[in-house]
Amino acid sequence: MENFTAYNPTTLHFGKDVLRALGPTINRFGKKVLLVYGQGSIKKSGLYDEIMTYLNAIGAEVSEYGGIRSNPVIEDVDAAAAIGREKSVDVILAVGGGSVIDSAKVIAAAIPADVPAWNFFVRRAMIRCAVPVVAVLTLAATGSEMNQFAVVSNHEAEVKNSIGSPLLFPKHSFLDPQLTVTVPRNYTAYGITDIIAHALEAYFGKGEEATLTDRFVFDIIKEVMEYGPQLLDDLTNYELRAKIMFAATMALNGMTMYGRASGEWGVHSIGHILSLLYDVPHGASLSIVYPAWLKLQKERLPERISQLGRNIFGTGDVDKTITMFEEFFRRIGSPVRISEAVGEKADPDEIFRVMGSNKAATYVHKLDQDDYREIIRLMM
Ligand code: NZQ
Ligand code: ZN
Repeated sequence: MENFTAYNPTTLHFGKDVLRALGPTINRFGKKVLLVYGQGSIKKSGLYDEIMTYLNAIGAEVSEYGGIRSNPVIEDVDAAAAIGREKSVDVILAVGGGSVIDSAKVIAAAIPADVPAWNFFVRRAMIRCAVPVVAVLTLAATGSEMNQFAVVSNHEAEVKNSIGSPLLFPKHSFLDPQLTVTVPRNYTAYGITDIIAHALEAYFGKGEEATLTDRFVFDIIKEVMEYGPQLLDDLTNYELRAKIMFAATMALNGMTMYGRASGEWGVHSIGHILSLLYDVPHGASLSIVYPAWLKLQKERLPERISQLGRNIFGTGDVDKTITMFEEFFRRIGSPVRISEAVGEKADPDEIFRVMGSNKAATYVHKLDQDDYREIIRLMM
């Protein structure tokens, strides 16, 4: 087993009506609140009004930044940070999915640093302090609610990249599965894919002797493969929403990394290219890349893939294992080819070029130029 440090300071409030504790929780950090949210789902669902009621009850002075896009962009982060700086906010309240929470984390670091937020991503600035972030999660997928990572795109630089810092963990995260019943079927499926992908990125990382942690991975995948399809047939079922929400948080909060030196993250880095170029939703990008990546790696990592297959599908056959993952993604309605996600506009040469400039999949199981061509062919 590899050495590891376990650290996770996020307080998680999970279950029905946990939001009732939001006001007092915010109050512990101060009255000046920057509320950050997405493109309008929280207004449509009534959550915005509910949040405002809690904030008004503590006499909060609320500034807001709405309109964060799915696959969030650096311009929004800088614009929101400028508001937060001007108002000297005490706390940032992020209400939404991973895109909103990730943006809030970077805003939190950019406010005190008073630099363009992209500087953190290109290591021109270090995160030395951050405004506290409190999150209200509305979509089960990324795990951002209980981790230290944030992913943002810079279209000018043609980069979608992540940063991580122990200062970026949300202080508190509120997870009421009831808030996810309005997530449409497609994004519910993409969330299920993302959970599986997070477990797999950990499993294919550095450190294969962490047997207990491998079991966490298998069980997270089995949990969502069993209950995910049931949820897709019954989108307003509380218990099923709760199971998927819990699994999403556990899949990327450190638990699948104990005893490993690092995760693999190659599939994510390629998925980010598809999101950057064609705005493919994050989870949808991963169901395209994973089967292709496994096919590319099957002769290099036969034992590892076979062990995965034995534990998830009851077969040690590598090809069957890959096919069964692909069929699962297809069955839940998460695309498995680029053409399914973006039609004919995808350009293999463009993908190849941007994979190169982003150094995609060059971390643990490094891909070279020939691998790039092959994986693109497998994804088309
Ligand atoms: O913008 P609004 O109107 O809120 O609509 C969103 C958005 O259109 C909608 N939605 C969210 N909650 C809803 C809802 N619609 C109805 N009812 C609700 N309750 O869903 C759409 C997708 O939201 P988004 O936040 O973009 O999805 P997700 O949570 O999948 O986040 C994706 C982003 O997170 C990054 C991804 O790269 C991507 O940019 N990731 C972050 C990670 C992390 N911080 O650890 C790890 C992940 O691997 C991932 O890279
Ligand atoms: Zn992901």
